[in-house]
Amino acid sequence: MEWTKEQRYRKIEDISKEEFKALEEQVAKCPYRQKFHVQPKTGLLNDPNGFSFYNGEYHLFYQWFPLGPVHGLKYWYHVSSKDLVNWQDRGIGIEPTEYFESHGVFSGTGIVENDELYLFYTGNTRDKDWIRHPYQCLAIMDKKGDIRKMDKPLITQPEGYTDHFRDPKVLKSHNGKYYCLIGVQDKNELGTVVYYESEDLLNWTLKKEIDTKYKGNGFMWECPDYFELKDKGILLFSPQGIKPEGDKYHNGDNSGYLVGNKIDFENGKFNHGEFTELDRGFDFYAPQTMEDENGRRILIGWCGLPGVDCVTDRNGWAHNMTLPRELQLKNNKLYQIPVKELETLRKNGRKVKATLNNEDREFEGFNGTTYELICNYKNITGRYVGLKFRKGNNEETVFYYDLEEKKIVLDREKSGEPTVLEFGTVRKCHIDTKDLNIQMFVDTSMVEIFINNGEEVFTSRIYPSNESKGISIFADGSADIEVEMWDI
Ligand code: FRU
Repeated sequence: MEWTKEQRYRKIEDISKEEFKALEEQVAKCPYRQKFHVQPKTGLLNDPNGFSFYNGEYHLFYQWFPLGPVHGLKYWYHVSSKDLVNWQDRGIGIEPTEYFESHGVFSGTGIVENDELYLFYTGNTRDKDWIRHPYQCLAIMDKKGDIRKMDKPLITQPEGYTDHFRDPKVLKSHNGKYYCLIGVQDKNELGTVVYYESEDLLNWTLKKEIDTKYKGNGFMWECPDYFELKDKGILLFSPQGIKPEGDKYHNGDNSGYLVGNKIDFENGKFNHGEFTELDRGFDFYAPQTMEDENGRRILIGWCGLPGVDCVTDRNGWAHNMTLPRELQLKNNKLYQIPVKELETLRKNGRKVKATLNNEDREFEGFNGTTYELICNYKNITGRYVGLKFRKGNNEETVFYYDLEEKKIVLDREKSGEPTVLEFGTVRKCHIDTKDLNIQMFVDTSMVEIFINNGEEVFTSRIYPSNESKGISIFADGSADIEVEMWDI
């Protein structure tokens, strides 16, 4: 179905209760609903927003268009959790009601101040000629969960930049000042990040651009995030329009980071190394991080991409979140480790050890549609070792290490219903490893695969039939394996 502008910019109350209920029922019947990932009850979910720890709980908001699987008038939807595993539905968080957000409450972040949660976001507006006028805005949540909005925006579009000006990330620096990083496009149509300074989170002064060597890549940098680990600064963002390069950047829009010395917010200087892609799978974008009360830096991303169709569109919803991942910095590389709390999802553990010799073997009791699986390969020789999962009639998703090419490969060609074929059916990335460790979370229609304790991650939607439950482990050559799995 083609969605007109009028249909995309309707509010939730513009359709009748019966119509909305019918949509909810249509979504609930979809065979691809996830079991343990945050997903929208109807409509489209995109970026995580306002991810924070406040008042004894984790809070997560997300971009939401309630009325169908398209990008339309965006809300912030709110869920909260004590353990990053079980999420409580808190309903709509921020609703577009004001002139400065007439065309959507766009992405932003949360920061705790004076016992309240400050939620910074972009108010998206369009005038009658459909020209965009973006504003950076603030809403404040109190302990009761009530959210009040400031009656006017805090920041308007700066000189020298286009109307691509969005996604504020607010942080407190060591010098006691606050900084707000905002993704922006300059007049030469190059993406970059500008930042503002404040003493009180309310009055903001434009400083300058973050001075990176990476400028020139991408026409817009969405969803900037900045944090420090050990003595390093990490700038995370989603540059739009970077071209594929070898095995990298095949998703149309991509996310990654720069690691360097801590940013000097006096002058914006950032000395950093190469841009590194954060996730190697087919579906990952606009991640956001927060620091929890134990000092962990936790990331959550959107398992989805802008501008692509989703198999579940026909059922009235699209996309979901990734699992939360703890970030660790090793040799200037971010490792992403599924948070420990996820172990509480484990049920019916089983374990097996074997030596494989040029074979593809199934093990009794190792199958399912939603589970966690860990597989360790040692003493590997030959060409390939890997595994196949969600196997059934002519269906399988294949993941393996190619010892000759020194690459890990995810192949979703036969994963079930085809999806986003324009970007290909295989993703690869270089890795040089003697032993191989795979930790995999399989949900109804997606997989997150962590390699060697988070050194690389592949996040992808797959659409196998519910009957495709098989798992096999293979070696084209030989390997000692130890496999452990749990139902979820
Ligand atoms: C990224 C993004 C943001 C914007 C939001 C709108 O996916 O385009 O830049 O704030 O989504 O939903």
